[in-house]
Amino acid sequence: MAAPANKTVDLDHLSHPVKERHHYDPCIVVIFGGAGDLSHRKLIPALYNLSLDGELPPKFAILGFSMEDLDDEKYRAFARSGIEQFSRRPIDDEHWAKFAPLLHFNRGSFTEAADYQNLHKRCEALDAEFGTEGNRVFYLAIPPAFIDTCSEGLTAARMIHRHEKGHPFARVVVEKPIGSDLASASEINAQLARHFDESQIFRIDHYLGKETVENLMVLRFANAIFEPVWTARFVDHVQITVAEAEGVGTRAAYYDRAGALRDMVQSHLLQTLCMIATEPPNTTGAESMRDAKLDVLRALRPLGDEDIDKWVVRGQYGEGLIGGVPVRAYRAEPQIAPESRVETFVALRCWIDNWRWAGVPFYLRTGKRMPKRSSEIAIYFNSVPRILYNSNPRAPLAPNMLTIRIQPDEGLALHIMSKVPGSQTHLQQVKVDFHYVTSTPEAYETLLNDVIVGDQTLLMRRDTVKEAWTFVQPILDAWGQSPMDPPIYAAGSWGPLEAALMIAADGRAWRTL
Ligand code: BG6
Repeated sequence: MAAPANKTVDLDHLSHPVKERHHYDPCIVVIFGGAGDLSHRKLIPALYNLSLDGELPPKFAILGFSMEDLDDEKYRAFARSGIEQFSRRPIDDEHWAKFAPLLHFNRGSFTEAADYQNLHKRCEALDAEFGTEGNRVFYLAIPPAFIDTCSEGLTAARMIHRHEKGHPFARVVVEKPIGSDLASASEINAQLARHFDESQIFRIDHYLGKETVENLMVLRFANAIFEPVWTARFVDHVQITVAEAEGVGTRAAYYDRAGALRDMVQSHLLQTLCMIATEPPNTTGAESMRDAKLDVLRALRPLGDEDIDKWVVRGQYGEGLIGGVPVRAYRAEPQIAPESRVETFVALRCWIDNWRWAGVPFYLRTGKRMPKRSSEIAIYFNSVPRILYNSNPRAPLAPNMLTIRIQPDEGLALHIMSKVPGSQTHLQQVKVDFHYVTSTPEAYETLLNDVIVGDQTLLMRRDTVKEAWTFVQPILDAWGQSPMDPPIYAAGSWGPLEAALMIAADGRAWRTL
């Protein structure tokens, strides 16, 4: 793992391993949808980078499984092109020569029993060749509608056994979004539970694997100075922004059924909120961490119809300019219905009704076709009393703020007041800024490594997914019943005017990124 660093700090003194991983059980990662987009862009490049870092089991193989007409050689060419285009680090021919033989492909349909039998035989052959001892990770990089079919297929082919000590392991990985509403998420979770124990299920929200999101826990609980002020007594409000300059891209068919609330808020933004707001867990163990996060979701104040009208804003991008280049409106994107009412922007205010956060509003916003890609958490602290340096009512001092940049330019900054050097007493806000100078691992590297070693800390538990859907379901219901179209915002702007008015109604403003 890359260590955080700045130029003035001696890295050796910074590194305090908390969870060292010396032991990797042998295993095969079987990727359902192995020749798909996720595999190409994220999974295979992540596995390649793990292999570069020596963070894969010494006895290991990868097996792609899907309908494409590929064999091992063609699959290796497919993998190589993914690594060349999307890997964090460039391909190295010497290392590729070691990595390529780990890659295999088994053609088959998710609905054919015979294809699962073939898959089973292929895995056994790989066990014999690579010494992988029957251990399997089944990565379901497929649409959620196929999760049940694939789990059934694996069970019928006797490839899944409930986890027992001393027996080979079988783990399953599913991706967010888990379902499209509370009912469908519960159904998917029930389907999974018919085949796997919860300890075998790894639900990925890749935001939890981002270095800066993971670092939130370290920042809060490995430093003495933050936790005492991390409460309603000192915090005025919190803003979480996940802005993307990209439009809907190549995922129109999925996105036009999902929209920003399901795609981003239900998962990435609420999971990030949990990391900021959680109480200290009892241990760094997976269940303690996940219990603590669940408590945050359970403390979220449910939104009633009036709250949704006033405090939840949606928008859809119209045409506009991104970096001076004209881009088309959402409704003019390929495969998007010309009358689509799907939101590409959401802003909302929520409250966490517990002792620590009582009275502190959390403002969340996310959108596509924003002026730039920028994801950030901003903790605004209370202002100092209106005395001494803050006694001029016409020039109130800016409050202290801690900003945590999730991406790009990962790091954090503390914004404090300081005297401008000179004989006069002039104050200005300055930034104590920390950047990661090393390239940080991609979220999928961290999460795949966690799955391979069986660590569920950063993976979503069933009850967490349910609570997150419980919070957003009233919004889905209200929008589903509303005859109104979402307001249109110009691509390249920070969303519809309604979002600015919403936060202004509280006497605050969105931070300019
Ligand atoms: C995905 C969403 O989960 O996250 C996409 O489905 C979004 O719509 C993406 O673009 C953003 O991820 P990142 O890591 O680029 O911020």
